[in-house]
Amino acid sequence: MAKLKAALKSFQERQRALERVKAREAKEEYKGKKAKSRQNITSHEPVHVWSDGKRTLLPMRPDSTVLVVGDGDFSYSRALSSLLSNNAQIVATVYDDEAECHKKYPQAAENVAALRLAPNVHSVLFRVDGGRLEALPGDVRQCPFTRIVFNYPHTGSGIKDRARNIRDNQDMLQAFFRSAADLLRTGSGAAGLSFTTTMAPPSSTTTMASPAILDSDDECANHPTTEPPLVLVTLRTGDPYDDWNIKGLAKAAGLHCQQSFAFLAARYPGYAHCRTDGGREEDFMEKPAKTFVFSLRPPASALVGNTKSGKSGKTKKGSSK
Ligand SMILES: C[S@@+](CC[C@H](N)C(=O)[O-])C[C@H]1O[C@@H](n2cnc3c(N)ncnc32)[C@H](O)[C@@H]1O
Repeated sequence: MAKLKAALKSFQERQRALERVKAREAKEEYKGKKAKSRQNITSHEPVHVWSDGKRTLLPMRPDSTVLVVGDGDFSYSRALSSLLSNNAQIVATVYDDEAECHKKYPQAAENVAALRLAPNVHSVLFRVDGGRLEALPGDVRQCPFTRIVFNYPHTGSGIKDRARNIRDNQDMLQAFFRSAADLLRTGSGAAGLSFTTTMAPPSSTTTMASPAILDSDDECANHPTTEPPLVLVTLRTGDPYDDWNIKGLAKAAGLHCQQSFAFLAARYPGYAHCRTDGGREEDFMEKPAKTFVFSLRPPASALVGNTKSGKSGKTKKGSSK
């Protein structure tokens, strides 16, 4: 009886949290729309049109080949699988070994089962270190990844000292960026291979906008079938995350920040944030987070700036914060 009560209480708390998230996101979307109309964003903007007709940034194509790193309970990969077309290929990975993962996240079993049945899932893997992607099985390394995603990376080391804790997470992220950039450079994704251009018919619940590419340089604009490979990292904003210097870490690994935007968790059906230690933070999804989009090439704007000024490829001072 007590268990039932606790479960009901937890369910009600989650429902309330979800309502709060939705309200916040509605506000964010309203603010986003206002900002967009001011900025006159181009048609290359990666936009996802959701089943409710709302448009939000989603830097994926329906047929993207995606490697998901450090996915806690696999709920993000499962959400992605439901959003992308059957022409997509998803490799879903977690850092924990199988036993540890199921112990920490009882809901993982259901997600894994669903992923294994999904037509757009290539593989589901445990014990994948984001800093050692070269250790992925050969058939996975051969996948022409166009997106590598790591949401809320965190070592969960519990180090109390703020500076050491930041350094610990920076070391992990730095290794990830190096490894991800290597995989994109050596993989077919970086070779600019053309992807299936036929878009799968939109699923009954979701429709995607036309193929979205981030780089607006001529080459890509003229060859919309070539999808520039991107690394997407979502991180909380505020203290101490703002001091992780995510853009600087990526830049040191040869990855350039193209843009960043608010991560709207409720847009991914069934996705629930997981803590590294397996615990839950009920109001976590209400806390603001940003997705940073990195590519192997400097942003088109930086290239244009260089041509005009004749200066070498440096970004604005302080932009790596
Ligand atoms: C805060 S949790 C976020 C989990 C999940 N991505 C989400 O959005 O709910 C941080 C995750 O990073 C993972 N992680 C830590 N170090 C890692 C590494 N070197 N490689 C891959 N994942 C790592 C942890 O196992 C944990 O699942």
